[in-house]
Amino acid sequence: MTILTVTLNPAIDVTYRIPALEAGTTVPVTEVRTRAGGKGVNVASVVRGLGGDSLVLAFAGFAQPDGFRAGLDALGLRHRLVPACESVRRTVAVVADDGTTTNLNEPGAEVTTGAEAAITAVLRTELAAGAGAAVISGSVPPGLAAEVPARLVAVCAGYGVPVIADVSGAALRAVATAGAVLMPNRHELAQLLGPLPRSAADVTAAGRRLVRDGAAAVVATAGEDGVIAVTPGGAWSARPVEAVAGNPTGAGDAAAAALARHLAAAGSVSGVDWPAALADVVATSAASVREPVAGEIDAEARSGWLGAVTVRETA
Ligand SMILES: Nc1ncnc2c1ncn2[C@@H]1O[C@H](COP(=O)(O)OP(=O)(O)OP(=O)(O)O)[C@@H](O)[C@H]1O
Ligand SMILES: [Mg+2]
Repeated sequence: MTILTVTLNPAIDVTYRIPALEAGTTVPVTEVRTRAGGKGVNVASVVRGLGGDSLVLAFAGFAQPDGFRAGLDALGLRHRLVPACESVRRTVAVVADDGTTTNLNEPGAEVTTGAEAAITAVLRTELAAGAGAAVISGSVPPGLAAEVPARLVAVCAGYGVPVIADVSGAALRAVATAGAVLMPNRHELAQLLGPLPRSAADVTAAGRRLVRDGAAAVVATAGEDGVIAVTPGGAWSARPVEAVAGNPTGAGDAAAAALARHLAAAGSVSGVDWPAALADVVATSAASVREPVAGEIDAEARSGWLGAVTVRETA
């Protein structure tokens, strides 16, 4: 079953390697790499890496040639693009030889009037064609209302397709009651409910409150501490087998990709075998930290960890 990913604010990710970053000086760039980016693109890439079928739905630029489209093609990802802005933004990661990374993220160009209607129409077409699950992730570009992810969740629900919403800020507040599976990190939980949760019990209580208020489930992520999940049927915590050193950017996207596959297989949140799904989420996201590039996973490490992740039911 196809996993649809929706990326409203795509990017062309540029990585510069440099010897050292010193502000106010001219720095030679020793290597340049570009890749189609945006959280939904990373999710689609991990789904494909896990042997699944994914389809990227995204806004794209009017400008030709279109580097974002070319980047998706280079990654071999299937896509349906909706031209809606001047050109796709770039994010620039400046990686120094000592390993420190500085990220410069453009906000994204304003999307045109009618962009929401156009992406909604494409989403409806793909849902009607038969999709296993949808993942709506990343930021909302200028020109689009913060409520758009919530409205797209409602469209998915209308087709009976389970949906993960991995968004933040105002978009997260709007989507929280819309019947999606939420995947907030600790800071995003605080954006929803106030103070930063201090303990696992705080996170579980926050998850319960969000499920009571209309989230289908909450899978709260906490970096190397793993995840805490709350559904109407129970609550669990799952920890990685080991804390992995590497590139944590995109670990949340790998987590969403793994969970989307379980939602697609089960057809609904209540049908998911949650302990098995959470073990997969934790093993797959840890395996993504092992890879220097977001959207990729170390498949061998994932297989090794899958059976060894501890998942505990929490009171
Ligand atoms: N260093 C690590 N070692 C092992 N597992 C990790 C590590 N960092 C992250 N993970 C796994 O990845 C999951 C998601 O990571 P995190 O909480 O950092 O998400 P995030 O902040 O949404 O990340 P992003 O938005 O950059 O994708 C964690 O719940 C955990 O299971
Ligand atoms: Mg995240």
